[in-house]
Amino acid sequence: MEASFTYDLQLKPKTYGSSRGRQFGGCFSSRTKRTLLPMKTEKQSKPATQAEHSQNGLGPQTKAIHAGEAERHGVNGPVVTEIIRTSTFTFSNTEQMKEWAEGKNKAYIYTRYGNPTLSVAEKKIAALEGAEAAVVAASGMAAISSSLLAVLKSGDELISTAQLYGGTYRLMRDVFPNWGITVHHVQPDLGGIEKLVNARTRALYVETPTNPTLRLVDIQKAAAFAKKHELVTLIDNTFATPVLQNPIALGYDIVVHSATKALAGHSDILAGVSVGNTEWMGKVRQMIIHLGGSMDPGAAYLLIRGVKTLGVRVERQCENAMAVATFLEKHPKVERVHYPGLKSHPDHQLASKQMRGFGSMMAFDVKGGLPAARRFCDRVRLFLLAASLGGVESLVILPIYSSHYNMSDEELKRVGVSPGTVRVSMGLEDKEDLIDDLKQALE
Ligand SMILES: Cc1ncc(COP(=O)(O)O)c(C=O)c1O
Repeated sequence: MEASFTYDLQLKPKTYGSSRGRQFGGCFSSRTKRTLLPMKTEKQSKPATQAEHSQNGLGPQTKAIHAGEAERHGVNGPVVTEIIRTSTFTFSNTEQMKEWAEGKNKAYIYTRYGNPTLSVAEKKIAALEGAEAAVVAASGMAAISSSLLAVLKSGDELISTAQLYGGTYRLMRDVFPNWGITVHHVQPDLGGIEKLVNARTRALYVETPTNPTLRLVDIQKAAAFAKKHELVTLIDNTFATPVLQNPIALGYDIVVHSATKALAGHSDILAGVSVGNTEWMGKVRQMIIHLGGSMDPGAAYLLIRGVKTLGVRVERQCENAMAVATFLEKHPKVERVHYPGLKSHPDHQLASKQMRGFGSMMAFDVKGGLPAARRFCDRVRLFLLAASLGGVESLVILPIYSSHYNMSDEELKRVGVSPGTVRVSMGLEDKEDLIDDLKQALE
């Protein structure tokens, strides 16, 4: 049963002043440069764009900060969301419990089913993605597996991009076949996808930009194809974040995130979230309840805190990423840089059309293959050698020893990962210091 949400968005737009346009840094394509905080008034009749998916006349950052919170204009109220640190909730009498069991009231009963702190996180992320609802989970993989299992059953077929976070790929490769679910993979350009559809095909799953080579899928094209064949669409929006693209507005059904990454933003929790309409989120919540991948309220608190600063962090990370990618592209020891903000990237045009910025992630191939890539990773001083992404510290990692371990040469080739590929997650440090570190590590 879906838990009730007792704290509502109580916003007073006039309190926050008039339009205060602010634009992302130079990493943003000129075509998509637009106001970050479009404080719309009630009178504006222009249809909401992807960037302005605001309800209540508020922009995305305002919603990230205020959506889902309790009324906070009274005396002695806490400004910050409370952690409702409980596994279970009281009822005042058995009649109320009976009503809960019969689905007649939506009280919180037990944190695996829902919890007020989790609900605040869900409201914020749903608002950021422009969706009706969201369900938080214990990790990105909990959100991804529960969402896929809410859609698929034994006998169904799934089409997915081959370029995926390795954990998602291994779930599809190693686990789904045991449950009678067949997975077919396509390249990000969706070439040949028509041939993969049959009467059993139930869903289309994509990741864009992809991990780790930053290829893009045309979201609108994928959504149109899925609609034609009545497929449910799921997308991993972890790399882009809701700051840079909102797939729901482009026709997608379910958006999943590893909220461990940019949404929480500080490399201190595991978290996941699934976003979509109320009906799909009801089904995903049921799966979380059955499989037990629910979020802890303490993690929800840190996720809420992270989401409030998501916009400014992504803005800064995009700026750093563009500077670093430009530096690396000119470096004689670098074979190739995979960053959609560079004109040399095969999906640069699509990124300029589809995203509001080019993101905080990149990869590059070091000349000299694996030994040279290892030497580079062993020499960085400011960048940290660590898995994961989206935090405040800049990180480097070799995908073949992390997300893409346990994959054959053929599988790696298919997704464009070479042993000398280094993945970079941009943090918030000063870009000059990051470039100095790269220089010395590549020497
Ligand atoms: C794109 C992407 N999706 C999903 C996941 C899985 O998330 P989690 O580690 O939070 O389970 C990751 C983790 O690295 C990821 O990079």
